Amino acid sequence: MRLLNVKNIILGVIFIFSCNSLIHAQLSEKDQVRLDELMGKMTLEEKIGQLNQYTGDYEATGPIRKGGDKVEEIKNGKVGSMLNIKGVENTRILQEFAMQSRLKIPLLFGLDVVHGYYTTFPIPLAEAASWDIEAIEKSARIAATEASSGGVHWTFAPMVDIARDPRWGRVMEGAGEDTWLGAKIAGARVRGFQGDGLGSTDAVMACVKHFAAYGAAVGGRDYNSVDMSERMLRETYLPPFKASVDAGAATFMNSFNDLNGIPATGNVFLQREILKGEWDFQGFVVSDWGSMGEMIAHGYCKDEKEAALRSIIAGSDMDMESRVYTHELEKLVNEGLVPMALIDDAVKRILTKKFEMGLFDDPFRFCNPEREKAALNDPSNREAARDIARKSIVMLKNNNQTLPIDIKSKDKKVKTIALIGPLAQSENDMLGFWSISWPDGDIVSLEEGLRSRLPEDVKLLVAKGCEINTDSKTGFDEAIEIARKADIVILSIGEALDMSGEAKSKGHIRLPGVQEELAQAIQGTGKPVVVIMNAGRPLVFNWVADNMPAILYTWWLGSEAGNAMADVIFGDYNPSGKLPMTFPRDEGQIPLYYNYFSTGRPSFGDHDLLYKSAYIDMPNSPKFPFGYGLSYTTFEYSDLVLSSKSMSSKDKIHVTLNLKNTGKTAGEEVVQLYLKDRFGSVIRPVKELKDFRKLMLQPGETKSIIFDIDAEMLSFYNNDLQWVAEEGEFELMIGSSSADIRLKESFELK
Ligand code: BGC
Repeated sequence: MRLLNVKNIILGVIFIFSCNSLIHAQLSEKDQVRLDELMGKMTLEEKIGQLNQYTGDYEATGPIRKGGDKVEEIKNGKVGSMLNIKGVENTRILQEFAMQSRLKIPLLFGLDVVHGYYTTFPIPLAEAASWDIEAIEKSARIAATEASSGGVHWTFAPMVDIARDPRWGRVMEGAGEDTWLGAKIAGARVRGFQGDGLGSTDAVMACVKHFAAYGAAVGGRDYNSVDMSERMLRETYLPPFKASVDAGAATFMNSFNDLNGIPATGNVFLQREILKGEWDFQGFVVSDWGSMGEMIAHGYCKDEKEAALRSIIAGSDMDMESRVYTHELEKLVNEGLVPMALIDDAVKRILTKKFEMGLFDDPFRFCNPEREKAALNDPSNREAARDIARKSIVMLKNNNQTLPIDIKSKDKKVKTIALIGPLAQSENDMLGFWSISWPDGDIVSLEEGLRSRLPEDVKLLVAKGCEINTDSKTGFDEAIEIARKADIVILSIGEALDMSGEAKSKGHIRLPGVQEELAQAIQGTGKPVVVIMNAGRPLVFNWVADNMPAILYTWWLGSEAGNAMADVIFGDYNPSGKLPMTFPRDEGQIPLYYNYFSTGRPSFGDHDLLYKSAYIDMPNSPKFPFGYGLSYTTFEYSDLVLSSKSMSSKDKIHVTLNLKNTGKTAGEEVVQLYLKDRFGSVIRPVKELKDFRKLMLQPGETKSIIFDIDAEMLSFYNNDLQWVAEEGEFELMIGSSSADIRLKESFELK
């Protein structure tokens, strides 16, 4: 039975004060005085109002709880924030209502600006494939500039959940499976969103989500439970969150899942002990949509009253769409179950951000229509979107140099191209899930991108072939007919934009509908085929992977998708993306990730099965490994030299190597550094990414690369949860992917 007794609560509260999880002064002296004065004037009802967030009724991203008149509540100071409101006009109207309230406390407007606002950038998983931290930061910067010009103060991003299960539809929102890369990207996105800092009119507050371990939901089923050791939590799932705090993230969002039996929203350990205690996070935590109320369905709270109590004790400061705070907190305070200090702490955290954003100086400072117009029509935003889109494309296969397609040279062989497939002309699907829809949005389809590039003497024939997800093959004949007339086929297949994302878990991650059969029919014509695959997650597509000569994995690339794909197809851009997630051969292998732990019976290769940690009906190896991606050129790795073969925990080892472009095209390579701790007091992964360099080389050019190895890179959580580097032997692996290690050495920590 759950306990809702006073003793328990008192213990909880004593704990909170002892772990020092309350806010300390953050503001300038002047604003601190203003904040204190304001707090002094606020009634309990007004304080609770600040902890309450409603969605606008226009665009919902979850089940809306009806009832009440939101406008009246805003005028009465009962709402601290609204989500799903955008645009100067709409935000201004609501802010004006807030200015009619007794204390004129401005509203915060939040929105899921996950990969762009007006200009849509590639989905975050795709951007992670660019391994271009600067470009990722820039993409977030532009999204913030556009969103803030439209009255938005706060984005519910970045999503930094480590995800090892492509059945989980939300893999599209994150940076993939790797903790180290995920932490780098998390920091970059926070910096991008928050720009020069809160208070600049082009900065939006970042909201790091979902705290925590949401990506580890059992079976890849959204909203499902998570059960893991604290060591795994701290080592694999928390570092991107910590990196976000270090980058100055203003806010956090908690999560739908429970962690080891306690819902994240009511989780004192996560929010009070780690986030606000250990990490000294001074921002505020918003619940996920309705997650406070959902603790009743979890079977953790018997009613809304208990849900409100558990949430505030755990450090959830703002209630997104549950209404349990507005319904229950006042009673809980009056009954002495919630100390006023907890309410004050949550209110101060939220008001502090409103002060930092400058909203008390001018609640309409993000409501300038001229600025909005200029920001949304800045052509350089589209250029940046196109640049990161092409950087995000991963070339999985290119037999016989099928790509790039030569359309420029005098003696070109391609005079007719057949563009086939259900995504060939699609615009909306290019945006991907969590994109913001605009009636006047300009989206470049693949067909448009190709056509804009074609010289007069190259023809483009187009046929859909089939729909994305029906079983009708009536379009096959037309597709086959145009394939026969063409010198080469571009086959555009994959997922529609609502097939990966929130609440889009799948048991089968195959190509939907009859798309694989369409691919087979086209292959039957004997024409060379370039496959362009748009999707929000790693798919399983073995037939296509084994039988088609060239494959580009193009995710969902955003507004400039068609141009970016055409850039790569015609060789105006040499692909440089590398997979941020392992691609399995079969759903039965999931979860499948490159940095697994060594077992006592390791299988060395796909035929080493007997009494080994292996499947007898399928290989262990993935279809495409983490870090994998091809280029139009080739690279040679050589001359690995270590400054020393041993180091102390205070030293560094300098690692140098040479990288040569051995092909005929200029291109970029992502040189990846992996480490393995040979023997540890707890077993260690077979390899772990610890650094990388992405560099551009002209044909024939050689560049020298330097890495430094220090004790931090060798450290891990031991069984007592201490972060330590243990003495002993380490393997250093430098590779072009996690499975393509080109250079190896070993060294010792003494
Ligand atoms: C999602 C969050 C999102 C929120 C607001 C929830 O359903 O889990 O990631 O920020 O809705 O749209």
